[in-house]
Amino acid sequence: MEFNIKSGSPEKQRVACVIVGVYESRKLTLAADLIDRVSSGFIGDVLKRGDMEGKLGSTLMLHSVPHALCDRVLLVGLGKERDFRAKEYREAIRASIKALTQTSANEAVSYLTELTIKKHDVEWMIEQATVATLDVLYRFDRFKTRSDEPLREPKKLTLAVQRRSDLADGEKGLARGQAIAEGMRFAKDLANLPGNVCTPSFLADTARDMAATLGAEAEILDENGIAELGMGSFLAVAKGSDEPPRLIVLKHYGAKDKADKPVVLVGKGITFDTGGISLKPGEAMDEMKYDMCGAATVLGAFRAAVEMALPINLVAIVPTCENMPSGRAIKPGDIVTSMSGQTIEILNTDAEGRLILCDALTYAERFNPATVVDVATLTGACIIALGHVATGLFANQDSLARELSAAGEEVGDRAWHMPLFDEYQEQLKSPFADMANIGGRPAGSITAAAFLSRYTKAYDWAHLDIAGTAWRSGKDKGATGRPVPLLVQFLQDRADIATGNVVRRGRPRRETSEASDDDAD
Ligand code: BES
Ligand code: MN
Ligand code: ZN
Repeated sequence: MEFNIKSGSPEKQRVACVIVGVYESRKLTLAADLIDRVSSGFIGDVLKRGDMEGKLGSTLMLHSVPHALCDRVLLVGLGKERDFRAKEYREAIRASIKALTQTSANEAVSYLTELTIKKHDVEWMIEQATVATLDVLYRFDRFKTRSDEPLREPKKLTLAVQRRSDLADGEKGLARGQAIAEGMRFAKDLANLPGNVCTPSFLADTARDMAATLGAEAEILDENGIAELGMGSFLAVAKGSDEPPRLIVLKHYGAKDKADKPVVLVGKGITFDTGGISLKPGEAMDEMKYDMCGAATVLGAFRAAVEMALPINLVAIVPTCENMPSGRAIKPGDIVTSMSGQTIEILNTDAEGRLILCDALTYAERFNPATVVDVATLTGACIIALGHVATGLFANQDSLARELSAAGEEVGDRAWHMPLFDEYQEQLKSPFADMANIGGRPAGSITAAAFLSRYTKAYDWAHLDIAGTAWRSGKDKGATGRPVPLLVQFLQDRADIATGNVVRRGRPRRETSEASDDDAD
């Protein structure tokens, strides 16, 4: 879809549809009021009849509004004016796009982006609208030979800003939004692909092609390369499958100083998790094709960051393989030696994510990282703890956890800081090896993180457990693209700190007090 940024009066737009907001108890926004005036109170009259009260996310399509130059006016409920914040804004945008796809209007101008929200500027408003719009329009139908309901996607969407002087910021927000949305689309596509298509080698080839398109560096290691590194734990998981494993490494050295320490992102890339010999029950096992969502989102965030030409050094590492039962598969009780030299007693072959991540985390040391963030659909226990709302966030530095929480909050992709107290390490004791790969039922997502923490002592590290947030089950089954927005915001924040651009985009950041927009950029 084509996007545009524009400033101009809603009643003068000669388009198929103009989108304006209405607060609860029928209070018109500025744009709605302008149309109401030229139409001698038409909108006010319609609202009085009671078909629309301004409830958040409700919509009403009006045709032939007198004296307005557009074919339709879409009223979008914004809820109570005093409660209108970031979350409500995104919801209103989503509702407006959904309503638009129900019509044959192929061009629209949205005035929702003219609204204002405390602590958020024009750039943010446009960025968030762009991401929400493209998220709503996303479809994965490449395997359908007949589509049941053709999606009527508008061809062109113009996002309005209040003043001509806002146009430049609007364009910046649009570019950022498109890069983030494209990273999410890339991640969602990879994740939604079935396991028989998205194998470890497919994932590696796709990553290599993506890097080539962006002009970034890619290195793919095969089984021999992985063995040479001594990744005994990763290989132990991989050996149960006929599909060979891969280690994917992508690099974007975008900082002014190429010697700056990079941020390293590590993504779990189990392209299908059967559980192995500790076989999972059959119900919903198809969803274990999503066990590579950590990999998909790390690659998606990498793509967005390079697209945005973020001035940081960035490395993405993805260990990828299948977890299968077979005559060559690992068995409960097997002991393996990780790349770090630490030995692991595998008590449950279904706790495989940590077994491939631990070696990737040891490998990350060679990049002398500023920070390492791993992303993984690691534990069902994380869904029990946080549901499908927040990503589980663990870190060996509280300041890093705060940074990631703030980034997620900024873009509506939230993570919640969980404890990693030493006491949890007790649960990983093994009578035969340096550690066991499971810590029992209590605090399952924490003991998984505690396991990883034994491999990340050399650097600042955070772990994102996305088991509950990476995809949706049920009739709207599909990947969400989370936490691409959080990761990209985190990288952007790092870039801003590195370039001294700390009060960028009007957000008061950390210790810096609120400064005027003028000294941004
Ligand atoms: N990929 C799963 C975690 C998972 C399960 C994510 C369901 C989303 C939905 C992971 O490899 C796994 O199987 N973890 C086990 C660990 C247990 C054996 C300690 C789990 O969560 O049951
Ligand atoms: Mn598993
Ligand atoms: Zn898994």
